[in-house]
Amino acid sequence: MRDEALAAVAAAGDLEALREVKVAHTGDRSPLALANREIGALPPHAKADAGKRVGQARGAVNKALAARQAELEAERDARVLVEEAVDVTLPYDRVPAGARHPITTLSERIEDVFVAMGYEVAEGPEVEAEWFNFDALNFPPDHPAREMQDTFFVQGAKGRDGAGSGVVLRTHTSPVQVRSMLERKPPIYVICPGRTYRTDELDATHTPVFSQVELLAIDEGLTMADLKGTLDHMVTALFGEGMSTRLRPNFFPFTEPSAEMDMQCYVCRGASVGNPDRPCRTCSSEGWIELGGCGMVNPRVLIACGVDPEKYSGFAFGFGIERMLMFRHNVEDMRDMVEGDVRFTRPFGMEI
Ligand code: PHE
Repeated sequence: MRDEALAAVAAAGDLEALREVKVAHTGDRSPLALANREIGALPPHAKADAGKRVGQARGAVNKALAARQAELEAERDARVLVEEAVDVTLPYDRVPAGARHPITTLSERIEDVFVAMGYEVAEGPEVEAEWFNFDALNFPPDHPAREMQDTFFVQGAKGRDGAGSGVVLRTHTSPVQVRSMLERKPPIYVICPGRTYRTDELDATHTPVFSQVELLAIDEGLTMADLKGTLDHMVTALFGEGMSTRLRPNFFPFTEPSAEMDMQCYVCRGASVGNPDRPCRTCSSEGWIELGGCGMVNPRVLIACGVDPEKYSGFAFGFGIERMLMFRHNVEDMRDMVEGDVRFTRPFGMEI
């Protein structure tokens, strides 16, 4: 039995075969195990001798198994090193295709709607003088938005003489309104996309870096009706025929009157309101989705920007792109939008 077992061990060509040999020759039902069990039934004088011989045979087989196991493992390791070697210096022929970020494509889509109406795309710096971000927009010196808890200050407000403007990461795209008015003569029609910053912690519903689109129109005789018509056109262009907006009174220092703008829910179109049988996840069965703020440009802002409020009036609105992306594409976690993982951006593909 021992010789048979040793021959089988020596003949095992790989680890799998050796495993089978091990079961067959040392397992519970192997001849050697059976022999071992039968020792008990022998007459007392024969036990010692039989026990010794069976024990030696089992020892020899186990030793041979262990040695063969070590040999076969070493062979396998050597083979894997050769067969699975990766030559990192080989030239590669495939460049993985990335994708543009959906924040970029959505914001360009919005710009296109306005460019088609004759608006011009305007941009401003993300590191902005406090004067453009707050003062020129009629924020009083003690306005709470200027506090460090809300705004990232790059440089403090006071110079050595106690005067001068601080430097902030812009908290909204509205300073581009100011820059546009100072750089252009009316009529002015601009759309200003860009990144904005507030001191929020990054979580599923907040991000300290976000994107807004701002719109400014300055001309003779513009009224709230023009603002409303423009908003209705925008939501129709982005979400489909028949869409409308509604305005709710609000306050912003830089617009007067000011309003919060909502767009009709493009999924249920209001059918979910008061209708528990047809709940709508997109608008939480409100029928409306809050978009952003708007209003008629405050004459004080016009004056600060060198525009004559007796001759010109204007409207402005601004809203967050992340929020629109969230409800438009069912993105549930804001972190996905800032982490730059292509597994998030790729399914959005490319919009050209
Ligand atoms: N800047 C405002 C905000 O960030 C939005 C706004 C823009 C309101 C233009 C009115 C006019 O909340």
